[in-house]
Amino acid sequence: MPLPAIAPSLLAADFAHLDRELEMINRSEADYLHFDVMDGEFVPNISFGFPLLDVAHKLCKKPLDVHLMITQPDRYLDAFAKGGAAIIHVHYEACQHLHRTLTHIRELGCQAGVALNPHTPIIGLENVLEQLDVVLIMSVNPGFGGQSFIPHTLTKIAQLKQMLRANGSSARIEVDGGVALDNAAALLRAGADTLVAGSSVFKADNPEAAIRDLKHVDQT
Ligand code: DX5
Ligand code: ZN
Repeated sequence: MPLPAIAPSLLAADFAHLDRELEMINRSEADYLHFDVMDGEFVPNISFGFPLLDVAHKLCKKPLDVHLMITQPDRYLDAFAKGGAAIIHVHYEACQHLHRTLTHIRELGCQAGVALNPHTPIIGLENVLEQLDVVLIMSVNPGFGGQSFIPHTLTKIAQLKQMLRANGSSARIEVDGGVALDNAAALLRAGADTLVAGSSVFKADNPEAAIRDLKHVDQT
């Protein structure tokens, strides 16, 4: 099995030592930096936005994986692309014209991702598979770091993998929320290829080692 991509979530970082945290990411085996944007409306929390994106873009050598938990993503796509996003995930539940939104993200030169809340079925993606580079399966209800993993996610990932295969899609499957060493192997076996990890990385005694351990988890 190929090694998974690891996307540490900045939300769990120590913001008093942001430069040190980003240096750790640069040194580590992380593949992306996951950047959670919350607007206090789509989710019951507010995180951070463009000023921090500027810092991350300047200091972080890993591609920025931007997760927009906001009600009106279309308004801000250009700004996130300009701000250095490599991947932009919009929420399925926030998009009235998903095909148009995904097409626009690609036109901006970014990879297009759709995030699905735990209750959202995968079937709605069937008509946008050609516009999709990655699906972000939420394994918690979005809004906060440090929540417990929802086990049904494993079934959902397996169903999505099957749907992608059946349609000849090479879209990647990324999973976000409560991901740690104790569920990583099962997620990868179900079909995920990218693991977002906030608390299990940044709250670990040795975050760089935590990233390495996730990357090289025994998948058998
Ligand atoms: C939750 C965010 C996640 C969060 C994950 O709404 O989208 O990216 O930072 O944090 P952990 O890994 O602690 O669940
Ligand atoms: Zn996220």
